[in-house]
Amino acid sequence: MSEQTKVLNNALPQHVGIIMDGNGRWAERQGKPRVWGHKKGVDAVRRAVSLCRKLGIPSLTLFAFSSENWRRPEDEVSSLMELFLFVLQKEVKALHKNQVRLNIIGDLSKFSDKLQQNIAKAQELTSGNTGLTLNVAANYGGRWDIINASQQMAKQVAAGSLAPEAITEELFAKHIQMHEQPELDLLIRTGGDIRISNFLLWQAAYAELCFIETLWPDFDDQVFADAIASFVSRERRFGCTGAQIRELAAGTVQG
Ligand code: FPP
Repeated sequence: MSEQTKVLNNALPQHVGIIMDGNGRWAERQGKPRVWGHKKGVDAVRRAVSLCRKLGIPSLTLFAFSSENWRRPEDEVSSLMELFLFVLQKEVKALHKNQVRLNIIGDLSKFSDKLQQNIAKAQELTSGNTGLTLNVAANYGGRWDIINASQQMAKQVAAGSLAPEAITEELFAKHIQMHEQPELDLLIRTGGDIRISNFLLWQAAYAELCFIETLWPDFDDQVFADAIASFVSRERRFGCTGAQIRELAAGTVQG
């Protein structure tokens, strides 16, 4: 794809990331335990996946559990772990049938053996699917991702197979999670807070940000479509001026 096409090809985002926030508040407002909100959040995940499939968006990345979420009360953490296992076991067949490739990103070594085995099985089963890549960030942090990439390159430098001056932005990017997928175009956070919370720090460099009030369990097709419409209406300049971008657009239309 030429640089020119890349600038202009923003009709639909090719990679959407979502910070699914607000489950706990959603449940508390109904006088229910927080885990009830997480369970209802799974329905919203299903809707988001389904809309991406319908629209032909090739990559969706969901922040399911941050490297900081271990600080939550022990019973909430263990309920979330049980929920992840349950969802993996229950949903993987439907994902596979719908041509979804499941890809878990994050430091999985902290999860139970059973969860790790189920993750490996689900990834293996769906590895050939080309409809949508569903990346689930679990025990993930943007800083971890950058450190992980740095360590990989540092090992090569130490072994003498990589010169320090060969570490460019392009090479660095190749060691970051999901480098083989389209660049992150749109980053959505539900639940009303305006922060990135150590999500895709490297990948979000040029993403359009969309912060919405809706709590995650209420995230439906209309809310998602509104966020996508907001993305489509924005002018992405990638460091250029607006005039340059309009010239490029005019050139492409004429060409
Ligand atoms: C944040 O809301 C949500 C989470 C930490 C967990 C998200 C998990 C799911 C939606 C379920 C499983 C998903 C997959 C992809 C397997 P919060 O608890 O911080 O809400 P609050 O801000 O209202 O307290």
